[in-house]
Amino acid sequence: MSSRIAVLASGRGSNLQAILDAIAAQQLDAQVVAVLSDKPEASALLKVGPDQRWARSPKDFPDRAAFDAAMADALDAFAPDWIVCAGYMRILGAAFVARFDGRLVNIHPSLLPLYKGLHTHARALEAGDAEHGASVHFVVPELDAGTVLAQARVPVQAGDTAEALAQRVLAVEHPLLIASLALLVSGRVTERAGQLQLDGHPLFSPLRLDCAGQLNR
Ligand code: GRF
Repeated sequence: MSSRIAVLASGRGSNLQAILDAIAAQQLDAQVVAVLSDKPEASALLKVGPDQRWARSPKDFPDRAAFDAAMADALDAFAPDWIVCAGYMRILGAAFVARFDGRLVNIHPSLLPLYKGLHTHARALEAGDAEHGASVHFVVPELDAGTVLAQARVPVQAGDTAEALAQRVLAVEHPLLIASLALLVSGRVTERAGQLQLDGHPLFSPLRLDCAGQLNR
């Protein structure tokens, strides 16, 4: 039976679109059962039907815990196997993360552990890095700190602006996310207490995306 994926998104949803396209092309044995957002105006929400959307403004809740609890209850009602943060820009509290432990992943636009948090492209440029990229990782309460499953690299080019670099990274985020999800939904990759296994063998460093869109050790 195909895996049930819920996506958390705060913005345009190009990574969500990549998931939907991969499912339609039968590259991913899954279905997107819900899109949830902290931004009721997020265009990502429009990529699924009204019954598959949940969006609330955190301003309508007394605190982070209350917002998180409402979103967690909504998520559970969609019975997802996997929860994918794809451009979800709000920090998830520890209780939320614990509730979905082991089935919550995020795509982050940097070569983690470099540049956790915001403005990753500008920070890579400022540091004079020759390479930049994106990471898919399991979510833990500490921001962008969970075990990294896979990464994709891009060169930094002379004269790059943060926007140009962001575009180059986004182009590899989509195949990176699809290839990562394919390994997760098929059960080929497992995670326990921060230790990843691929096909039953420990994985000690992130898989790398090649130019054919395949993940390699
Ligand atoms: C992506 O760069 C993602 O890595 C970051 O936010 C951006 C979201 O883009 N966390 P989109 O909404 O998937 O188009």
